Amino acid sequence: MIHCTLLSPAIDVSYIVSEPLIDQTLTDLPICVTPAGKGLNVASVVRELGEDVTLHAIIPEIDLLRYTRFLEEKEIRHKILPVPGSVRVNTTVLNVATSAVTHLNSAGAAVSVRFQDEFIEKIHQCCNTGSYWCFSGSIPEGFDNDVYGRMIKTCNDAGAHTLLDSRGAPLRLGLRMRPEMVKPNHAELEQIFDESILGVHHIALKAKRLIDMGISNAFISLGGDGMIAIQNNDCLLCVPPSVTIVDTVGCGDALVAGIIVARKREFSFHETCRMAVACGVSKALHRGPGIVFRDEVWQLMEDVNITAV
Ligand SMILES: Nc1ncnc2c1ncn2[C@@H]1O[C@H](COP(=O)(O)OP(=O)(O)OP(=O)(O)O)[C@@H](O)[C@H]1O
Ligand SMILES: [Mg+2]
Repeated sequence: MIHCTLLSPAIDVSYIVSEPLIDQTLTDLPICVTPAGKGLNVASVVRELGEDVTLHAIIPEIDLLRYTRFLEEKEIRHKILPVPGSVRVNTTVLNVATSAVTHLNSAGAAVSVRFQDEFIEKIHQCCNTGSYWCFSGSIPEGFDNDVYGRMIKTCNDAGAHTLLDSRGAPLRLGLRMRPEMVKPNHAELEQIFDESILGVHHIALKAKRLIDMGISNAFISLGGDGMIAIQNNDCLLCVPPSVTIVDTVGCGDALVAGIIVARKREFSFHETCRMAVACGVSKALHRGPGIVFRDEVWQLMEDVNITAV
């Protein structure tokens, strides 16, 4: 079974307007409201790729119904720890006349640290040998920066497979517990080493450092440039086909889903990379996070160019 975690859920609200927003009230706008969060994006793509998935989530009580309905529609199993407070709201306003996009992201409510311990205990109860665990996204205010590290240790001790995709201190502290896989983007790789990293060979060198730290696989995603991935002595540059991009938010989450599904299906390292990059590209072709199409992924896999670095 594949498991995803969602510690910092959000609601995405998007508006489409056709005039500038200066000193005016616009009414009767079409609105799209969807539950969001990186762990949820990963779980949605895993499901689309045809695998069973369980989402372990911390959700404010007041937003529970919206999340559970959404998860049921997507056939994502869920284990939810309800907490007080309300969810953060990310609002996007797209002006179709100018193509300007404005993002208004609210702060998330703090969550008491006692829920962190309860959540880790629930994971301890569920993780068994051979299961796959994906830890993605930021953490709520009030939680310790080593929360992912503690969850990774719990899963590693149980003989489960672990993947970490976060940023800043939770990423750095999580790495100390040696997840089996890590998926930083370029900026996150620079945060890990606290230095600027330029060019394919420099990126590959730093990815190798992650392997030396005891992490078995490092997947460094590079947006439109694809990915550099390393496992043992195999270091691959994976370049996506050139396509017309619609929306790149959540491409990394789709790539993570591709990695975890390929690993569960025991694909070779090459094929895992191919599938991961194809999932990222499929996401970039559609509006909305967590949206890929499985037939498109199979087709795009053929067009990913892989070379040894
Ligand atoms: N402009 C693009 N053209 C083609 N493929 C893209 C593009 N942007 C992203 N991708 C695909 O998605 C993958 C992941 O993208 P990226 O490195 O931007 O992830 P990320 O920064 O972690 O994104 P997020 O955190 O928003 O999910 C890339 O490796 C690539 O396969
Ligand atoms: Mg990312």
